[in-house]
Amino acid sequence: MGRGLQGVKDKMEKATLKLNGMTCELPIVEGTENEKGIDISRLRQDTGLITLDVGYQNTGSCISSITYIDGDKGILRYRGIPIEELAEKASFTEVAYLLIYGELPNREQQQLFSQRLTQNSMIHEEMLRFFDGFPPTAHPMAILATMVNSMSVYYTDYFTEDFRAETFDLMAASLISRIRTIAAYSYKHSIGHPHVYPKRDLKYASNFLYMMFDSPVNPYVPDPDIERALSTLMILHADHEQNCSTSAVRLVGSSMANLYASICSGICALWGPLHGGANQKVIEMLEEIKGSKLSIQSCIDSAKDKTSKFRLFGFGHRVYKNYDPRARILKQYCETIFKKHNYQDPLINIAMELEDAALKDDFFIQRKLYPNVDFYSGILYRMIGIPTNMFTVMFAIGRLPGMIAQWKEMHDTVPLKIGRPRQIYTGSNLRHYIPMDERG
Ligand code: SDX
Repeated sequence: MGRGLQGVKDKMEKATLKLNGMTCELPIVEGTENEKGIDISRLRQDTGLITLDVGYQNTGSCISSITYIDGDKGILRYRGIPIEELAEKASFTEVAYLLIYGELPNREQQQLFSQRLTQNSMIHEEMLRFFDGFPPTAHPMAILATMVNSMSVYYTDYFTEDFRAETFDLMAASLISRIRTIAAYSYKHSIGHPHVYPKRDLKYASNFLYMMFDSPVNPYVPDPDIERALSTLMILHADHEQNCSTSAVRLVGSSMANLYASICSGICALWGPLHGGANQKVIEMLEEIKGSKLSIQSCIDSAKDKTSKFRLFGFGHRVYKNYDPRARILKQYCETIFKKHNYQDPLINIAMELEDAALKDDFFIQRKLYPNVDFYSGILYRMIGIPTNMFTVMFAIGRLPGMIAQWKEMHDTVPLKIGRPRQIYTGSNLRHYIPMDERG
């Protein structure tokens, strides 16, 4: 069995590859949810061949026990617990602990974790000076990536060869707590308001909202419903197995780069509009539709038209070929909290009309395109008061425990193998240097 495959069942089944009279038997491995894969760890060594899979659509990069997704059934579980239960019953810090350490914390573990988050909620005063260098119009994802990477300069307890658990525990708490502070400070910087320091007696989401919205002239007024809505959003975003940004964290971390640098790479990958940046694009799309009086059907037609630049952001998914369970929870949550608070947002009506039309359209039905987590999340962030250009930052705050958990799992899997994909070369065959005066 290939190295780093501890935990999968070696079913003793084999896949047989026959090529040019050569026969190669490849082991079949099976996970705890009966997912099967062909272990090609020895393929090149035994056959001289590699596989090619642009976008890794059919390729597993690792085994993992953190998150399970069944894309056909629309199932999502963190360490075996259904996302629906966690979204309803858990706190975000409980979910962060569950993802990173594998079990829900007991009371003592929760208290220690909370203390670490509180003790590490402020950023070094010298880091505040970084904000003076950012223009107020700087995208908060650029600020977040810069500041997180800079943490390795100020919080030097980071990963080296002698990876020690207590160092990791401190780094994890430091990142989870300080990312909140950095995000809130980036918002204050963008509106020219003074930074608000975290409070030691506020819970995770409440402290973030306090740092975001408190000011000397307008005190932040806590609303339990709004704070629970934010916690739910963060829980729903907390992990999603080997997506683009988590894979970036693993690849960068596999070179033994420190945790801050690895997370920074994940934040940068998340920024893309095909990935975590989609939540901002969804709202911009809905606002464009609202402002232009475009008909829903014309939007659906444009989304299907390959020559059109219009893409239905918040729809489609590499893994889910059924309704994204997170989108389902968020849609229901919006309807419930909007009704309770008598809150109106015309964008949710446009979103629901778009969803209704798309789910009846053969193009979307045939391609199994459903709303994903980004389709309704922005509408809830708007109600909370988060500015649109911070939506992906909110995704990053929620996803951080998952990125950390994946980085830790990779380092716990021995031996650590640096990630180094191969390629099929299609460039020039051998040729030689031509002096300048002999070139055409
Ligand atoms: C996230 O991987 C994760 O787990 C990600 C994530 C997480 O929690 O980490 O779930 C978070 O990133 C959610 C996705 C957010 N992105 C968007 O909402 C952007 C819009 N969606 C698409 O760009 C697309 O669906 C992707 C990027 C999400 C998935 O891309 P794939 O798997 O490479 O699929 P594809 O682009 O090859 O599409 C297959 C077909 C194509 O049509 P055909 O070539 O077969 O004719 O479906 C069409 C696509 O044109 N299609 C869409 C569409 N998404 C796919 N057509 C119109 N609108 C869309 N949104």
